[in-house]
Amino acid sequence: MLEAILLVGGQGTRLRPLTISTPKPMLPVAGYACTEHQVALARAAGVSRIVLGTSYRAEVFEDHFGHGENVGVEMIYAVEEEPLGTGGAIRNAAAYLTCGPNDPVVVFNGDVLTGLDIAGLVQKWRDADADVALYLTRVEDPRPYGLVPTDSIGRVQAFLEKPTTPEEIVTDQINAGCYIFKRSVIDSIPTGRTVSVERETFPELLAAGRMVIGVVDDGYWLDLGNPLAFAKGSADLVTGKAPSPLLTGRTGQAIVEPSAKVDPSAKLTGGTYVGHNVVIGANAVVDGSVIFNEVQIAAGAKVTNSIVSTAAHIGDNSLITDTVVAERVFVGANNELQAGARIFPDSRIEGCAIRFSSDKS
Ligand code: GTP
Repeated sequence: MLEAILLVGGQGTRLRPLTISTPKPMLPVAGYACTEHQVALARAAGVSRIVLGTSYRAEVFEDHFGHGENVGVEMIYAVEEEPLGTGGAIRNAAAYLTCGPNDPVVVFNGDVLTGLDIAGLVQKWRDADADVALYLTRVEDPRPYGLVPTDSIGRVQAFLEKPTTPEEIVTDQINAGCYIFKRSVIDSIPTGRTVSVERETFPELLAAGRMVIGVVDDGYWLDLGNPLAFAKGSADLVTGKAPSPLLTGRTGQAIVEPSAKVDPSAKLTGGTYVGHNVVIGANAVVDGSVIFNEVQIAAGAKVTNSIVSTAAHIGDNSLITDTVVAERVFVGANNELQAGARIFPDSRIEGCAIRFSSDKS
């Protein structure tokens, strides 16, 4: 039996205002919470028991997953009264594990979209007799991430969090947010205080000469931390560029829930997801966007690379680009919201053209 810990307790500040009511890992990407995609991936790799490390809006996870009856995996909740950071959350969740000290435990950040071969990573952890195996991915610009250089046999040499100078950018390999831990290593993390695995636990393991390996996997990977990445992740799932066991046979230009009413002249492209009871009017265009349930998009509106949350209304001929529209927002006719606009819940936007600094036009 393989056990996993999913870290889902963060505040998701970069995705506000969507995360005011819903924790980031529970926001729908291509119609399913990121956590649901991860649970399906873990299950396919043989994981049968998952401890969710929750804190912020912990009740939302329990209400949705219960004991895991509908997802085919036993679900347990380790709730932190105060967020304990990534390491503290893993340590807190360990109280609910049943495996032995030398067994592997899969640990996942809750906002990572990936097709990682988890079983393959566990096998590499075994082959190397490792204390920890880290999933690494390569990115063009590693500056916002934690860099993880490795030697010729894959042993991790350092952890360099969010480098700033060119000298610090020694590799394009970054920590991709999934690990295989030996259970006893988790048990050695201090209890009852905030701990970061990236800044504290991993560097300490290296300093103590423990076997920490990095495994580069060049398959699909995306951190859904900010709104543009969130919309892209959803679009990639809908088009099939990002794999998910939940969407097999449904991928294409758009996924539209059967209860949605889409005018035949409307165009849905670029991996758009259209939720339950959505109404989309004549000649509207929705491209690469996530449309939550109960939304109305009126005739001639154009929504591009945006997230429109539950029960929002987008008026006739309005243009919405690279924007987050929170729940129950009313956008009247002929408005323009562009390049990083974030509209908070229940707002009313009329007679408005909002353009942000990244929009030079
Ligand atoms: P931002 O506030 O936008 O940075 O997002 P975040 O709060 O989710 O932080 P970050 O993206 O760095 O977190 C990575 C993962 O770890 C996410 O899945 C978080 O839910 C999770 N996480 C971060 N801090 C904690 C914590 O204190 N407790 C638990 N249980 N999970 C955490």
